[in-house]
Amino acid sequence: MKVTVVGAGAVGASCAEYIAIKDFASEVVLIDIKEGFAEGKAMDLMQTASLNSFDTKITGTTNDYSKTAGSDVAVITSGIPRKPGMTREELISTNAGIVKSVAENLIKHSPNVIIIVVSNPMDTMTYLAHQATGLPKNRIIGMGGALDSARFKYRLSEALGCPASDVDGMVIGGHSDTGMIPLTRLATRNSVPVSDFLSDEQMNYVKEETKVGGATLTKLLGTSAWYAPGAAVSAMVQAIGCDTQKMFPCSCLLEGEYDLNDICIGVPAIIGRNGIEKIVEINLNEAEKAKLAESAAAVSKTNSLL
Ligand code: LAC
Repeated sequence: MKVTVVGAGAVGASCAEYIAIKDFASEVVLIDIKEGFAEGKAMDLMQTASLNSFDTKITGTTNDYSKTAGSDVAVITSGIPRKPGMTREELISTNAGIVKSVAENLIKHSPNVIIIVVSNPMDTMTYLAHQATGLPKNRIIGMGGALDSARFKYRLSEALGCPASDVDGMVIGGHSDTGMIPLTRLATRNSVPVSDFLSDEQMNYVKEETKVGGATLTKLLGTSAWYAPGAAVSAMVQAIGCDTQKMFPCSCLLEGEYDLNDICIGVPAIIGRNGIEKIVEINLNEAEKAKLAESAAAVSKTNSLL
């Protein structure tokens, strides 16, 4: 399996590193516009191969898309990250042009590629990638929900005082500070509802901290996070490459599912060799449905700025 990662910044490099360490891909191509940068990151990563025991070949290129030819999966991380105090939506004017041209270049050289979008504002950039390429809806996936759900599980495990592996839960809705919907009602610790262990106040704290998970890290780091975003993408790439049929909440183009149309937003989906194999429609209660509609209205508003 050949994977292209566009953007050799922190998220792109961490994604390439996790893919390599999991050792399921034959080749990862890092591509960046900054002269020599992707080549340098690729060489640095390749020098970890004997230490981290992987056989994945990582190469780098400065903006030469012919090197990405025949990719099975491509990850778009390019564009600017947010600075402390910025929303993801504020990045649209810079990132839209970049994501559009990257998506077009990718399909020129890899007509069968499945694209995973990470660049922000992620749901709108996923929608834009659809518009720019006209690919079938199964072949473009936005990463947000997989990351937001990992952050939700982290906060739940912290509140429960247990390892994250004990916890299950997901976040649907838009990948924004106000649009995320952490589904506490459905979250469990080894199949026991978390509400059996946590007070309403604790669950509310978990929910609010999850929603601003990215902003909290941006404040601490001075730029946006990279380990968890890179890990979330690598898990999705693995699900495609190994055809695991694993369920991730992720940004999907909806055509009537959840009563939404012509929008990319986070909902649970089965991910396998065809990308989005199936969108899973779970039973939401009235409050959750209303929140999803509200979140979708905000994403549509950002889409209208394209
Ligand atoms: C974050 C960025 C990737 O949430 O949106 O960290």
